[in-house]
Amino acid sequence: MKKSKGFIVLGSDHAGFRLKEAIKAHLVKKRTNIVDVGVYCEQPADYPDIAKRLVWVMKKKEGNKGMLICGTGTGMCMAANRYKGIRASVAYDIYSAEMARRDNDANVLCLRGRGIDAKKQVKLADIWLNTAFSGIARHSRRIRKLDR
Ligand code: RB5
Repeated sequence: MKKSKGFIVLGSDHAGFRLKEAIKAHLVKKRTNIVDVGVYCEQPADYPDIAKRLVWVMKKKEGNKGMLICGTGTGMCMAANRYKGIRASVAYDIYSAEMARRDNDANVLCLRGRGIDAKKQVKLADIWLNTAFSGIARHSRRIRKLDR
């Protein structure tokens, strides 16, 4: 039986709301299965609360991936990495987006919602989603050590 690819879970605080909506529209157009855990407007929200919600949903099924957006991506990344099994990474350019998947098998991408062109961020999201983990033994070993 073919293994299902899982869902893309999206979350943001108020500073990332607009970019989350842009990424959501893009993924829906591409018929990607998504779950949006909020926020649903630009009213101030605390990023640790959203990250917690995203992780909870993400862990429901193996293969799910997440995208978290705040002003810089940093707070979301810090929050998500508190949870076992989560490998969250910030990406500000194509190289970091690609390598986060290829070498680190990142399962959560954290993006910057403020002061950056949304189109470039959507492109980073696409690159991240379309890059596979290399599976190289030394990288697998390092990843295993993260959860010990
Ligand atoms: C919210 O103003 C901002 O601090 C937050 O979105 C984020 O950038 C934190 O890392």
